[in-house]
Amino acid sequence: MSQGEIIAGFLAPHPPHLVYGDNPAQNEPRSKGGWEALRWAYERARASLDELQPDVLLVHSPHWITQQGHHFLGVKHLNGKSVDPIFPNIFRYRFELEVDVELAEACHDEAAAMGLTTKMMRNPNFRVDYGTITTLHMMRPQWDIPVVGISANNSPYYLSTAEGLEEMDVLGKATAKAIEATGRRAVLLASNTLCHYHFSKEPVPPEDMSQEHPENFDGYLWDMRMIELLRGGQIKEVFRLLPQFIEEAFAEVKSGAFTWMFAAMGYPELPGELHGYGTVIGTGNAVMEWNLIKAGLARAA
Ligand SMILES: [Fe+2]
Repeated sequence: MSQGEIIAGFLAPHPPHLVYGDNPAQNEPRSKGGWEALRWAYERARASLDELQPDVLLVHSPHWITQQGHHFLGVKHLNGKSVDPIFPNIFRYRFELEVDVELAEACHDEAAAMGLTTKMMRNPNFRVDYGTITTLHMMRPQWDIPVVGISANNSPYYLSTAEGLEEMDVLGKATAKAIEATGRRAVLLASNTLCHYHFSKEPVPPEDMSQEHPENFDGYLWDMRMIELLRGGQIKEVFRLLPQFIEEAFAEVKSGAFTWMFAAMGYPELPGELHGYGTVIGTGNAVMEWNLIKAGLARAA
């Protein structure tokens, strides 16, 4: 078995509105569209993922919340209906997915060996959260690549931001070790929105795009600043500013996926490719890619 490697990482946010706007057969509610700029961004990301031909997609979702430790999906085949508790009117999705249990167990074991509290999720009737599903649907609607789902321990919310993100750094490093040891060609998906100030009322219909815009100008400016740094490959500077960004823009990257992904990739000072940016109920969302094959840091298939 050759040594595995991470071949790309994507910032792949999970507003369920994007699935709703897409009208896939799996989702019950119907829409007239909406949020096209972001859905077109995902279209570009999907084309790139198709070329990458990974063995597995790993996703860390802020909406699978586990208070004790970091959990990993550990059932080979999962199916059921996932409903967004905040937006049940737009997201009631029938999912069916295959888990790469061997890699999930390797991630679990490496993370435990590095001192994190960890657990395998073995409930065969487990309902996968809408964050995981939305990110995976938008990246790969065919559902033909096995996945590893990782929970959000939300330690940055219970501890300090710095302590919580330190744990996510360890989780990322453990994930990279597990990928290497199992020989997988892996793509990482950080399921995070940027500025997370949002409206408290929904237009009728929800896809009325005449009502969609950033909720908060300062938050929007923060998003633009961070995106420019990411596009410029100034990753050190991004992580220096991250706690302030989280504090001032209420950024969802606080929940850790973004740090997990960059830690796993080794914080490469590499320009990210912006596939697109858009707001969803006022929150800021960027779809971005760090392609380690194109950068010469990973082998092509
Ligand atoms: Fe979210």
